[in-house]
Amino acid sequence: TTPIIIDTDPGIDDIIAISAALNSDKLDVRLITSIGGNVGIEHTTKNALDIVNYFNKNVPVAQGVNKPLLNKLSTAEHVHGHNGIGNYIINTSQNLSTISDNAVNAMYNTIMQSEEPITLVPIGPLTNIALLLSLYPETKNNIKEIVLMGGAAVGGNATPVAEFNIYADPHAAHIVFNIDIPIVMCGLDVTRETMINFNDIKTIETMGDFGQMITKMLDVYNDVNSGEDHEHIIHDLCTIFYLLYPEIFITEQANVTVITEGHAAGCTLTEFSHEGRVKVCMHADNKQFRTKFIEFVSNIHRKVK
Ligand code: BDR
Ligand code: CA
Repeated sequence: TTPIIIDTDPGIDDIIAISAALNSDKLDVRLITSIGGNVGIEHTTKNALDIVNYFNKNVPVAQGVNKPLLNKLSTAEHVHGHNGIGNYIINTSQNLSTISDNAVNAMYNTIMQSEEPITLVPIGPLTNIALLLSLYPETKNNIKEIVLMGGAAVGGNATPVAEFNIYADPHAAHIVFNIDIPIVMCGLDVTRETMINFNDIKTIETMGDFGQMITKMLDVYNDVNSGEDHEHIIHDLCTIFYLLYPEIFITEQANVTVITEGHAAGCTLTEFSHEGRVKVCMHADNKQFRTKFIEFVSNIHRKVK
């Protein structure tokens, strides 16, 4: 199993990604850290706690920062609803609390105490990760790689040239992309190719409480592709599926420069080169991705039945 830390701003697609990770035998989720992003930190932290609780998992949740390093927090309630998960209330048996360490110290401890190098999976703005690597550069010796959702070689969703997670805190992203740790960038190039459609949603709706919960959240999820055909991009799930099923993805090496100021702020300028430091996910097999998506919901359904 691969030990991972998920840094997240749940977020409807974050909830789906976390659910897939928590229920996979191949991943060992050691810690979840929250970050302000899609909505404010009070909601993202609660959503992270609630999904851990929903699955009765013993995974610590630590609260991170609510504010980007220099910019103002820009949230996305219009995409994820006011509480971040389509105003859905996750059915939980108890009220869990965060651990007393903040996200950065909790990551530090988890990484330094791990006998095996840890994979970081950031699926929100990169503020916590930038703080970790700035305050504790020694952690990089026990980080295997960073598999993140963010950026795009081409295009954007927050602006024509910037993806939301990078746009939200470009200064943090700049720090992270400049540290000498292997990075896998699952950006819009690949997430755009992993859409699930109306039929997929109809299928998971029949899959018990979890299937229905996801369907209800997706009903409200207002990503760029949700239109008449009900197609949805579950961006953050790409990171977890990349770790589980790398064979579905096609990557290319590139050097990535984060633009931090001006009209292009948040742009991940991607220059392809065999010597490039970043592995950029450029394509995914949509059919296999959708099959794996249905399989994961169905496995959870079978387990809890
Ligand atoms: C990213 O932004 C958020 O809205 C999603 O959760 C995802 O992490 C997509 O641009
Ligand atoms: Ca997210």
